[in-house]
Amino acid sequence: MSRIRVILARELTQDEIQTRVHELGPWFHNLSLRGIQTAPEHFLGDYPSTKWQSFQEAIPKDLTGMTVLDVGCNGGFYSIQMKLRGAKRVLGIDHDSDYLNQAKFAAEVLGLDISFDLLSVYEVAELRESFDVVLFLGVFYHLRHPLLALDLLRRYATKDWFIFQSMLRGSRTVPRIEENYPFSEKSVFDKPGFPKMHFIENSYSQDPTNWWIPNRACAEALLRSAGFRLESQPEAEVFICRCDEGAHLHPLPKVLA
Ligand SMILES: C[S@@+](CC[C@H](N)C(=O)[O-])C[C@H]1O[C@@H](n2cnc3c(N)ncnc32)[C@H](O)[C@@H]1O
Repeated sequence: MSRIRVILARELTQDEIQTRVHELGPWFHNLSLRGIQTAPEHFLGDYPSTKWQSFQEAIPKDLTGMTVLDVGCNGGFYSIQMKLRGAKRVLGIDHDSDYLNQAKFAAEVLGLDISFDLLSVYEVAELRESFDVVLFLGVFYHLRHPLLALDLLRRYATKDWFIFQSMLRGSRTVPRIEENYPFSEKSVFDKPGFPKMHFIENSYSQDPTNWWIPNRACAEALLRSAGFRLESQPEAEVFICRCDEGAHLHPLPKVLA
């Protein structure tokens, strides 16, 4: 199958690629498909290339023999990077078929054997597979049930590495939080760095799919609470985690488990 894809891709001229890129747009990922840019006017610049530069060193360079799940893969930028690092299997999932069609086309043009599935993060248990590396980049704050997604990914999909990125707002300080507080203690909630998520009832940045935006301490606390160990934070929004084998995994409601 992948051989056929490679042959098909070689037959496309630059004009044909350009036409197809236009038909599949608008793109969020600016990819370079044999010289054709998919989102040259991106409001964040050359995105997500510039983001990737800021944390790519924190992820193993050689993924030979490893499996990767890219959750909310969008146009496939990170799935492609993982395949280029030698991963034996890369699966990109997204709940948006338009983005998946972009990712499939990009992989075809580049001649890369990457799988893509129309699947929500809430459905990862249906894969019946766990992965050496799970990418969960830029998806968390788009979810109405973000902690549920973390719990599901930890329990059903992640074997080892968990690479997390979220928009963060509020204080960047991470205060010491006690194991417990008496009921009478109220002031601690007013500390700027106390773990907090901001709920967006309507819209933020013209995007009604932005629901919950944590501050930094909250992102760290949620990751630990879901059973991940924080290894490093190569840039402000990115947390490199591993599964914490000793962690207590909180039970899921029966209807979801
Ligand atoms: C801001 S984009 C991030 C794309 C890419 N991961 C990145 O970091 O550049 C968010 C992506 O998450 C996808 N998404 C949102 N909710 C999802 C869900 N419940 N399940 C799977 N994908 C989802 C969107 O369709 C979109 O492609």
